[in-house]
Amino acid sequence: MICIPIVGPTQKKSLEDIAKAEPLADVLELRLDLMSDYDLRALLIAANKPCIVTNRTKRDGGQFSGSEEQRIDILKQAMDAGAEYVDIETSTPKELLQPFLETKHKSKVILSYHNFTDTPEALEHLYELMCGMPADILKIVTYARDITNNLALFNLINRSKKDGKKLIALCMGERGEISRILSPLLGGFLTFGSLETGKETAPGQITAANLKNIYRICDKRTSFKIYGVIGNPVYKSMGYLIHNRAFKEIGSNDIYVPFLVDNVENFFKSFSTYFEGLSVTMPFKEDVVALMDKVDETAKKIGAVNTVVRDGKGWKGYNTDCLGALKVLEKHVDLNGKNVLIVGAGGTAKAIGYGVSEKGAKITVTYNRNKEKGVQLAKELGAKVINIQNAGEEVIDVLINCSPVGMTPNLEETPISSRHLREEMIVFDCVYNPSETRLLREAKAVGCVTISGVELFVNQAVGQLELWTKQNAPVDLMRDVVIKGLNKT
Ligand SMILES: NC(=O)c1ccc[n+]([C@@H]2O[C@H](COP(=O)([O-])OP(=O)(O)OC[C@H]3O[C@@H](n4cnc5c(N)ncnc54)[C@H](OP(=O)(O)O)[C@@H]3O)[C@@H](O)[C@H]2O)c1
Repeated sequence: MICIPIVGPTQKKSLEDIAKAEPLADVLELRLDLMSDYDLRALLIAANKPCIVTNRTKRDGGQFSGSEEQRIDILKQAMDAGAEYVDIETSTPKELLQPFLETKHKSKVILSYHNFTDTPEALEHLYELMCGMPADILKIVTYARDITNNLALFNLINRSKKDGKKLIALCMGERGEISRILSPLLGGFLTFGSLETGKETAPGQITAANLKNIYRICDKRTSFKIYGVIGNPVYKSMGYLIHNRAFKEIGSNDIYVPFLVDNVENFFKSFSTYFEGLSVTMPFKEDVVALMDKVDETAKKIGAVNTVVRDGKGWKGYNTDCLGALKVLEKHVDLNGKNVLIVGAGGTAKAIGYGVSEKGAKITVTYNRNKEKGVQLAKELGAKVINIQNAGEEVIDVLINCSPVGMTPNLEETPISSRHLREEMIVFDCVYNPSETRLLREAKAVGCVTISGVELFVNQAVGQLELWTKQNAPVDLMRDVVIKGLNKT
């Protein structure tokens, strides 16, 4: 279930937000402590969904500034007014908490614990203590300092299922974002989603619209596999948009989430039972190779893995950047014997350079700022190396930009002067944001065949999905998702 917090600040705004939340929420949380004025009965009448009434002090991340007695009185009024649930914190003074919990009432009581700085080791003990108190639902929310902290909460959910207890278990913060998506799917009672960006009531909360429409957490699933991207940062990755939409299209219950990882080795050690496959992004593409049980020949030669697939009891690594780029290029050109000029000497240049070299192309690597890097890559690829200023002297059949030059926000930059572009050239820009860079615009004007980085982005994702699911990916739909996603940025 998705619970949307209603935060006011005025009665009018709360009523408007209750109406807006209606199509997305299963439950609403009326955060009285964040409302400067409210008529609780009117709010409860306006809500067509069950409501949790919460009145939190600063100690638990709220804003209520009255006395503890006043706070408890307001919760009692909520019970009298017919609230489905009231939330009371474990930090409430014992002499007030115990009688409140023991009062018989129609409202269900959520007993909540919050830790805004950490995920303590002794969570099991805390859970047991809370189980001993007369509450209907337990809520344990901690702060994730590391992605592996989420596992402590997932373990509690497993335990609560065996104990027949209803439990809300979530991690706050960027590293806890996955718990907001996965916890209800693993058996947690509900998750919180904000009505819109800017209306979050806890760090790391994501929008209810994303939970419902992208992650489809309300869809009935008897079983599902978890996939995701590991990287740092991961918030810019569009993988969650493209893969979740593709899963839906192919009728799969599987889910794809962003794993914000600090230590990739620890992540593999502790999370391995939870995921079936991964996309790998910066800065882990090279580090992950050593953690694989098998590495596909292409990825091994490149020394970088961008896709992880469960392989029996172990993991196998692939590089779909390379395979995706070849697929795109070979639609337009037979690379054998062609002169390919590569701009940039980083990971993408290496992956694509290796692929085109395997296809029999003659490669020239350019350097601009960092001659050493260019020379090193040329050596690895058995290629020629030149200063980019001299690109005009080269015969070029295919030009590939593997540098970030021209990427948003530097829209007016281009890696190579337009005077070096010739009509007969194929120009492929790995940059996908924007989908048409200045380089591609200028190449089109000269009459070149142009290929956008969007095609590479789509193809590497298609390669990943097909490796994970062994099904054909919905390529056109995945491209639409990327283009729509880019138009929103
Ligand atoms: N479409 C896709 O699916 C896809 C997939 C992978 C990558 N990409 C894009 O490809 C680009 C490169 O990615 P990467 O992972 O290879 O990055 P990387 O490893 O950081 O390498 C970037 C390369 O570009 C060079 N470079 C950076 N700024 C430059 C400038 N102003 N002038 C000239 N050269 C410059 C760097 O040289 P220095 O050493 O001098 O910095 C380096 O050789 C990025 O824009 C990325 O978004 C797209």
